[in-house]
Formats: sequence, structure tokens, C-alpha cells
Amino acid sequence: MKAPMGDAGNSHLNLDPQIFGESFDREPFGFTHNLSGLDLFQNDSLRALADKYHDHKKDYYVGAGAPEPGVKFYSVKHVDYKPADALDNMEKGSYRVLMKRPENHDKRFRALLDELFQQVVDLRGGLGDERVVRLESAIFVSSAATTTPFHFDPEIAFFCQIAGDKIYHVYSPRAVTEAEMEQFYIRGVVDIAQVDLAGRDPKLEHVFNLKAGKGLHQPQNAPHWVETRGDRSISFSFVFETTATRAKGRTRSFNHVARKLGLKPTAPGATPVLDTVKASAMRVVIPARKVAGKAARKVAGK
Ligand SMILES: [Fe+2]
Repeated sequence: MKAPMGDAGNSHLNLDPQIFGESFDREPFGFTHNLSGLDLFQNDSLRALADKYHDHKKDYYVGAGAPEPGVKFYSVKHVDYKPADALDNMEKGSYRVLMKRPENHDKRFRALLDELFQQVVDLRGGLGDERVVRLESAIFVSSAATTTPFHFDPEIAFFCQIAGDKIYHVYSPRAVTEAEMEQFYIRGVVDIAQVDLAGRDPKLEHVFNLKAGKGLHQPQNAPHWVETRGDRSISFSFVFETTATRAKGRTRSFNHVARKLGLKPTAPGATPVLDTVKASAMRVVIPARKVAGKAARKVAGK
């Protein structure tokens, strides 16, 4: 049955409380949802949304598809298209369009984001003493047969397939070593951290064959690569960071410095008191990250 067309207010992710309790932000898991039938994801609505991005260069990315998953993320050709141009030419080439933070451009997406996030918070039993420092959504539209290279992100994500097929390969965060993670946190590369695909433990890989109505949860730092096959694909995701996830990142950046000095730092979570000390120390040291972050954003065209 198609979802009600009344957009937000009726949207939901079907999250199994037991699986959620066991795996949230630890291991990837799949779920179903009813977002595909919502008005705001229909073609006319998405095309009208794309027009609103025209003068907001920081809020979109248009790229060509990567030839294979192991290539360097930003070696993939950037396309000098606006999102609306790319949507109009989807069938003629291999394109990936990312429209960031649609909630800032269409208030229906704000309502949708708030509603879905509330479902996650309720299942978590509230936020406790954590505060949300970033919550945002994104829409991905890809031509047939495109690949998004292997990388990980520092945020917790819920990814929903709206239309078309997508094969989503996501590994447990355990597939990335502490030393690998640390080097990204010290450099402040907070949106795309690319690591090598070769040599990852295949037992830690989850493959989700996504189609309309299916989705997956991606823990923070879970590396992934994504491919589309036959049809145009439309996906929606929302991500968030909290004071706790950010502090964990600062602990890792501290550990990076310690490792460089020849020490063997304990991973976050092993000694919470020490984690707090490390995270606090890096509040002072961290400005070096800003320089690196600025450079990374420049490469990303943001
Ligand atoms: Fe990603």
C-alpha cells in the first residue's frame, strides 16, 4: 500500500526496538519506511526543489559517477552543472547530485526531518545529557550505473531509498582501525574520510540491496561504498552528531598525537574518565584542525 500523501505527519521508519537497542551506532542494520510515496519526493517536487539551490553553492554537489569503488573520492570528475541541470540530463550521462540540507530550502523537509529524528530519539529513550550539535538531511539523485567510492563519515546516519535500486556496501566500524580513524579526526576532515577498500575483513561487510521502501542504519565511522545499477536512484538520509560523538572525535585526535609520540593510547570507551581529559585537552589544541578542514572543504567545492 502506498504511504499517505500528506507528507510529514505520517512518515515513519519501521525500526525494530530490539535490533535498535542492540545495534544502534554499533553495527549497521536494515529497516523499512514509508517515505517513497510522499509528495515531496515526487519528480515535480524534487525538480522545483533543485531550482531553489541555484544560488546556494555550499548546499549542493554535482559529480560524475566513479569508475570503481576504490578510486580517490575527489579524483572523480566534478561537473559544472547546477542540480536542476543535472536532473534534466540524468538520462544522458552518469551523474550524482547531492542536495544538502533540503530542510533549509523547503519547510516540508524540516517537518520530515524533525519527525524522523524524534522517532530515533524516542527509541533511544531520549538524549540523556547529550546535546545535538548537528542534525541535517540530504537527497541523493544518481543516474543509472554510478559508484560512490569507499569512505567513512563522522556522523550517525539513517539512509532511506526512495526510488530505483541501490546496492549499499557498509562495514562495521570495527573494519577501520583506531589509528586510521584518528588521522582523520586530527585533520578535521569531518565529511569524507577515505580509506583503502582493499584488505578489509569481508566478514564485517553488510550488503543491502535497497529499493523503494528500504533503508539502513549506518553507525558513526562505518566505511561504505555505494553502487546504482539499472535505473535512476533517489535516496534520502539524515545524519546527526551529538556532544558525545564530537567528544569521541576529540579523544581520537588526542590519541593520534599520543601515537605519534610513540605511546599506545587506549581506544575511546575503554576508560571514560581519561576520554574526557583527552577530549578537553584537544579543545585547546584543535585549531590546527580548522586549517586542514578549510583545505578539505576547498577541494570538495564547499
Ligand atoms: Fe558517506
